[in-house]
Amino acid sequence: MTTQADSRTRAAHVTGWGRYAPRQVLTNADLERMVDTSDEWIRTRTGIRERRVAAADETTASMGAVAGLRAIHTAGLEPDDIDLIVLATLTPDYWMPSTAALVKEAIGNTRASAFDVMAACSGFVYALATAQAYIGSGLSKHALVIGSELLTRFLDYTDRSTCILFGDGAGAIVLSASDEPGGALGIELTTDPQGAYMIWIPAGGSKAPPSASTIGRGEHFLRMEGRETYRFATKTMATTALESIRRSGLTADDVGLFIPHQANIRIVEAVAKGLNLPMDRIYVNLDRYGNTSAASVPIALAEAVNEGRVQIGDNVTLVAFGAGFTSGAVTIRWTADPTRGRTADDAVQPEDVHVRLPVDWDSVDPIPEALAELMAQPGSVDVPLDDVVPGEPEPVRQPIGR
Ligand code: ACO
Repeated sequence: MTTQADSRTRAAHVTGWGRYAPRQVLTNADLERMVDTSDEWIRTRTGIRERRVAAADETTASMGAVAGLRAIHTAGLEPDDIDLIVLATLTPDYWMPSTAALVKEAIGNTRASAFDVMAACSGFVYALATAQAYIGSGLSKHALVIGSELLTRFLDYTDRSTCILFGDGAGAIVLSASDEPGGALGIELTTDPQGAYMIWIPAGGSKAPPSASTIGRGEHFLRMEGRETYRFATKTMATTALESIRRSGLTADDVGLFIPHQANIRIVEAVAKGLNLPMDRIYVNLDRYGNTSAASVPIALAEAVNEGRVQIGDNVTLVAFGAGFTSGAVTIRWTADPTRGRTADDAVQPEDVHVRLPVDWDSVDPIPEALAELMAQPGSVDVPLDDVVPGEPEPVRQPIGR
């Protein structure tokens, strides 16, 4: 599917951005103590050095709410100015209600319609496209678009081919209606069901309801055919990005910064090659977070802007791929003061955000046993989040292995 903002619809500008990453860090060295792998293998095959792990009291909703409030702070709005919340995730708190509904309450919003979008790692771009359509048609004025994932609770920590890849976190933007040109321009979304069983969680849905035997077989964990997924990503991402750029009336040369889904540095380098671009026009932070699925693009966008990599008037292309197979890209003409996001982390702390629990029910400790054991050992994890110092652009981090 392709869309192009036309002159009859209102433009959707990015006015706010924010991200949240849990404090606990899981390094490649930590994973060496869990499965038959090595820091060297993970770094050279993926570029990942470490990823974040949510604490027992954190959920997809709580992380999404922190990132969402930070984006609202950046936009200079109040939570009740938001009239639409679209949250992308493949790891919701519950099958129902939507995680977006929990976020709405947690951020203190009383008026937004709220729902989830599921398109795996492409989810944030799909959610952004949805919010743009609401704004373009006059249904929304200020939309909060969130990507939030708690993947570490859906991983099999005996499967070295998947457990090394993923991490937890959340990112968000506020899209605001405007009569001025700019904001989200051309959008390209694709879905190829040939890849339906290349990345999937077999059990827990209506086809295979959860039972002792599905759990015994580990069918509630994420499974992936890595090579097929890799092939799809390298084949699709550049063409999806180029179609979005073309729909925007631009060429790749007009785009200042590409923000790809942060899955694997080799995939990112292949996309750079496909677009004939030097790596310094492609943003990379996967070395610090691993693959955070729907959260990866908005976390990267917020960090890129806060680091001064995006300026007013720049064109930025976000591009993602994921289970389905899906892919999505959106090109944005940036119109907001990039310095506005730098106070958001101080302004909104995770301790300030509470997701209401049910009155008479509480889950068991949600942390997978193997992770819980590791995290109980002193000194192995739990370092403060200080990667982007508020107010001071960080030096650009070089991708691994270059
Ligand atoms: N440590 C050490 N060895 C490993 C590990 C590990 N963690 N994992 C696999 N291996 C071994 C394999 O067993 C295999 O051994 P063998 O040759 O003896 O059989 C060897 O390494 C090579 O395995 P490959 O799977 O061919 O390795 P590849 O170079 O393809 O890298 C990877 C694997 C990193 C998973 C890669 O295929 C990839 O990144 N694929 C894309 C995954 C992705 O991006 N997923 C995102 C999905 S988005 C979403 O919607 C959730």
